Amino acid sequence: MTSSSDAISNEQDAAKRNLWLHFTRMSAYEDSDVPVIVRGSGAYVFDQHGKRYLDGLSGLFVSQVGHGRAEIAEAGARQATELAYFPLWSYATPPAIELAERVAGYAPGDLNRVFFTTGGGEAVESAWKLAKNFFKLTGKPGKHKVISRAIAYHGTPQGALAITGLPAFKEQFEPLVPGGFRVPNTNFYRAPAPYDTDIKAWGRYCADRIAEAIEFEGPDTVCAVFLEPVQNAGGCFPPPPGYFERVREICDEYDVLLVSDEVICAYGRIGSMFACDDFGYVPDIITCAKGLTSGYSPIGAMIASDRLFEPFNDGKTTFGHGYTFGGHPVSSAVALANLDIFEREGLNDHVKENAPAFRATLEKLYDLPIVGDVRGDGFFYGIELVKDKATKETFNDEESERLLRGFLTPAIFEAGLYCRADDRGDPVVQLAPPLISGQKEFDAIYEILHGVLSEAGRLL
Ligand SMILES: Cc1ncc(COP(=O)(O)O)c(C=O)c1O
Repeated sequence: MTSSSDAISNEQDAAKRNLWLHFTRMSAYEDSDVPVIVRGSGAYVFDQHGKRYLDGLSGLFVSQVGHGRAEIAEAGARQATELAYFPLWSYATPPAIELAERVAGYAPGDLNRVFFTTGGGEAVESAWKLAKNFFKLTGKPGKHKVISRAIAYHGTPQGALAITGLPAFKEQFEPLVPGGFRVPNTNFYRAPAPYDTDIKAWGRYCADRIAEAIEFEGPDTVCAVFLEPVQNAGGCFPPPPGYFERVREICDEYDVLLVSDEVICAYGRIGSMFACDDFGYVPDIITCAKGLTSGYSPIGAMIASDRLFEPFNDGKTTFGHGYTFGGHPVSSAVALANLDIFEREGLNDHVKENAPAFRATLEKLYDLPIVGDVRGDGFFYGIELVKDKATKETFNDEESERLLRGFLTPAIFEAGLYCRADDRGDPVVQLAPPLISGQKEFDAIYEILHGVLSEAGRLL
């Protein structure tokens, strides 16, 4: 008979021998266990030893309605029993139709055409291909380049990676798809003088860099600008007031498509179904994934405006693009059940009502010398750590390695909180709890972070 400790040890051996974890230095687990998460309930997950963790990142900005919702699982099981699979290649399925109608209903303006994918990177990839194809069909075939922001993450397929603004993530795979160009992000904490005291002027400055990049590259060669409503990588940069208004003007002036990459920000993360509504702009395309099913099954979507669909509706033109599992019937049924919960429980209103308390709770961490900036919106926050609060001096590579990977990540997890200590830009701790969270969870996050960050400060 195998004891439970033998089973855990066998599982560890297999995990180390056969499983290749994503974005993970596998050798880090040579002398320690791979954390194995076996169960979830509400805002919490449990590991193989039964230890409970607050899911402070909703998995990966995914688990909006929380874990363990049997009604979503049952909706998926019902659909799998009825029809597990059929492609959207010239055929449709009832859940995909219903989901397209529902998502189009939530989307702003005339964004009525929903092209399903299996995840966010594919949605980004699809949006770039649509932008190029649209301009080829409408007499501007040279428009193919894209503009995005420094440090922004837009996914890992080679096209999406060319849009991603993280040189270290791209280096291993270069040369990538040509045509990706970068402009500054909206990190106000690091804004240079004279913009450091005037957030509106900073927003205007950052937006105008997009116009400048279009001019530099040639307006006839640029097809799209990809922006997240709140930029994730780098640590939750909200748009300064007026930023998106100016970006929209620029895109209209140069006939460049505005793609709102809402893979993280859609489905309640900021407090609305689509975060462009939170910031008052209407994009030409929205890309989304993650929270659409709260992770109970994978799906993504590119939502395009009627104008972009029009040239494909002439009786002879096809958008020659698709994915076997795009709009999978089980995932579509799961998404519908997930959205039912959003409606029934008023999750978007819950986020709007509780976001100020979340911010206020995290801002109490400012009493620690290591906490330089607390920024974000909705249930989506980054805490930037600094070596010297007065000068905003950040950590060097060695300190960052020792502090983030060596100490913070394991210490926070050990203390019962799953979140992310990230150094893709300056070092930040990122938080995005399930949207069902309230003051109890905010307080638990604060208590754990206060303890661990105090200790980190002493170790410097
Ligand atoms: C803004 C943004 N775009 C695209 C992606 C890629 O999504 P996926 O990992 O589902 O391919 C992500 C993933 O985190 C993201 O945050």
